[in-house]
Amino acid sequence: MLTTGNDTVLSKRATKTANTDEFLLTQFEKAEANLFHAKDNPEGIVNMGTAVNRVMEVELIERLTKPDALRFEQRYMHYFNNSGLLELRQAVADTLTRHLAPDNPVSPDNLAIMNGAGSCLDALAYTLCDPGDVVLTPTPVYTRIFTDIEERGQVDVMPIVCKAVPDNAEESFRLYKETVEDKILETQSAGRRVRALILVNPNNPLGDIYPPGLLLDIMKICAKYAIHFISNELYSLSIFDEDANFQSVLSFKDIPDPERTHFIWSMSKDFALAGFRTGVIHTCSSSVMKCLGKIALYQCTPSLIQHASATLLSDKAWCDDFYLKINRQRLRDRYSCCLARFRGAGITVRKAKAGLFIWFDLGPYLRSRTKEDEMDLFQEILKRGVYIVPGTQLYCEEPGWFRASFAVSEVELEEGLKRIQQVVEERKQKGQVSWSTY
Ligand SMILES: Cc1ncc(COP(=O)(O)O)c(C=O)c1O
Repeated sequence: MLTTGNDTVLSKRATKTANTDEFLLTQFEKAEANLFHAKDNPEGIVNMGTAVNRVMEVELIERLTKPDALRFEQRYMHYFNNSGLLELRQAVADTLTRHLAPDNPVSPDNLAIMNGAGSCLDALAYTLCDPGDVVLTPTPVYTRIFTDIEERGQVDVMPIVCKAVPDNAEESFRLYKETVEDKILETQSAGRRVRALILVNPNNPLGDIYPPGLLLDIMKICAKYAIHFISNELYSLSIFDEDANFQSVLSFKDIPDPERTHFIWSMSKDFALAGFRTGVIHTCSSSVMKCLGKIALYQCTPSLIQHASATLLSDKAWCDDFYLKINRQRLRDRYSCCLARFRGAGITVRKAKAGLFIWFDLGPYLRSRTKEDEMDLFQEILKRGVYIVPGTQLYCEEPGWFRASFAVSEVELEEGLKRIQQVVEERKQKGQVSWSTY
């Protein structure tokens, strides 16, 4: 039995961790406890809030239950190289080379495996920053970027705010190199040391891709101020827009500051295996790699799981000719379905090119564009049985935007969209709308 809480038992930082309510986690747990199932729990919650890719579950289970993947052997009983089995680092290096950097082969020596991308962020915060340093990231963004960097690294994450543009979804939330440099200078002139910048590319929640020219400009700005550039490319193999012009940081020939340029990827999104807790950092810095090798002890992935991931990734025909192709196709189909339904219902959508999310504006259906009214709409939609994430929980400055994952089953998608549309229609009919822009 747990005793009643006494915060003097904890350190100051642990008190903060223990007492911070984490929206995404809380809502995930609530949704999972009463999950929609067409037959067994039709009144349950359709979880379109959590960033989980469910579109290839059957195919993944089929592949992973073949005897070469998940099979226990004596070698998994003992200690191993904490920063990753060579077989997995090699398989990841080959996969990243084939898909992201064919002219710039990735070496397994530049890779460290950790238990998920969240862990990779935590490890980089520890390795690159001192307590009190600042890390910048454009917002809106996946909320845990803040937590992962701040919680144990004792580093402050500050947003580079990308703004909504009234009545222009496509121009909204754009990132400009000038905004990046201005934010660095502003932070520095407030007496703070900016140590790193994190770019999520393709972006969560926008589903957008940063143009390669902008990426290079931002890398140059980081190099000018000796700031580490961290490219979070968790969704880079889930680009479903065939015209998207994506360039991984791994493929740039003339990286302005290779010692301070790092890359993160994971099995959680592109391979839908969040439960495997397998993420990877790529760095060209031998000193960064040396430190990661030491701290990996605290956050390594079990060798049995590393072997299963390595087997999957090494099966090139299965990955390239089957899994990644079908995965993209299904993501594209689900996204197109959402886009058509939302636009048909008069909901503004910002176009996505990659990932699992659709980012849309329910601002006109709020009584007023405030955080309180956004939460009120969130609660109403949740009560109707769908969990979607309100944008302000993803550091969006303008209330009204929401993120929904379309990477659910077809049945869940249909039910989820139907319920969201019902709430919107009811608000329209009751005149509970503001039609306000910003
Ligand atoms: C951009 C981004 N980074 C990191 C993570 C965490 O990934 P992992 O499960 O590998 O820790 C997520 C998960 O949603 C994400 O979207």
